[in-house]
Amino acid sequence: MPRDRNIARALARQRDPSLPPSLALDATGCPILEPDVPMRIRLARHEEPLPVCPEPGVCPVRRFFAEAAAAGAAVELDVGAGYGRFSRGRAAGHPDVRVLAVEQEAARVARSDVAARLAGIRNLALLRAEARWALEYCVPPESVATAFVLFPDPWPKDRHARNRFFRAPNVALVRRILAPGGTLQAATDDEPYFAQMLDTMAAAPGFEPAEPAVRAEAERTDFERKFLSQGKRVFAAAWRKLPEGAAGK
Ligand SMILES: C[S@@+](CC[C@H](N)C(=O)[O-])C[C@H]1O[C@@H](n2cnc3c(N)ncnc32)[C@H](O)[C@@H]1O
Repeated sequence: MPRDRNIARALARQRDPSLPPSLALDATGCPILEPDVPMRIRLARHEEPLPVCPEPGVCPVRRFFAEAAAAGAAVELDVGAGYGRFSRGRAAGHPDVRVLAVEQEAARVARSDVAARLAGIRNLALLRAEARWALEYCVPPESVATAFVLFPDPWPKDRHARNRFFRAPNVALVRRILAPGGTLQAATDDEPYFAQMLDTMAAAPGFEPAEPAVRAEAERTDFERKFLSQGKRVFAAAWRKLPEGAAGK
């Protein structure tokens, strides 16, 4: 099936060994992320029960969250971080926050890593992983203050729409990892996709609309800068996680 081929290609790219060490976390080092590609494809289709991490003590992602909790630092997630300009700007501007940037393309993670090191940023970790996978299997529940999904791939063709991030199963994954009162922040230049984001979130249980974050100039993403320089409009929205069983949905 085409979806399987897409996922297999994405996973094959994850195996690119060019990722530099240290700041960058590598999800392929995780015991539950090591199974062969067909296994990972099945899991990525959300048809399997949640695996339990067999070695939480050695998982670098778990360690990142444990250290943040020990320091009393809020964690922010950048989903589909690209070359990481937003993550770096956010981390540099909010030294009390720990930022985890998730990106599946190894070359982009590598560039982010180099730039973050050159800038001396220490409160940013980069996770090379497929985002839905990371949300489901790596990020602990109720551990994230803010999840940013900025300029996600719009997949404009109808037959590709199911690849979009803003779909019910994915926003349910986001809800699971958000801390109580945490927010999901989104931005896009693609108006039809923005309309779908609003529809998806209006139908998603456990969220209410919130104020989009006012991001500093240094927190503009690479794609955002490109779109703004082309005179395109940027659409932004945010949603707050409601407590379990709250009135509404
Ligand atoms: C349009 S770019 C936007 C990048 C960045 N947020 C920005 O605004 O500059 C989308 C990014 O999401 C990444 N991406 C797409 N699907 C992903 C997935 N399923 N898991 C992780 N990253 C993904 C792509 O590799 C790409 O870097």
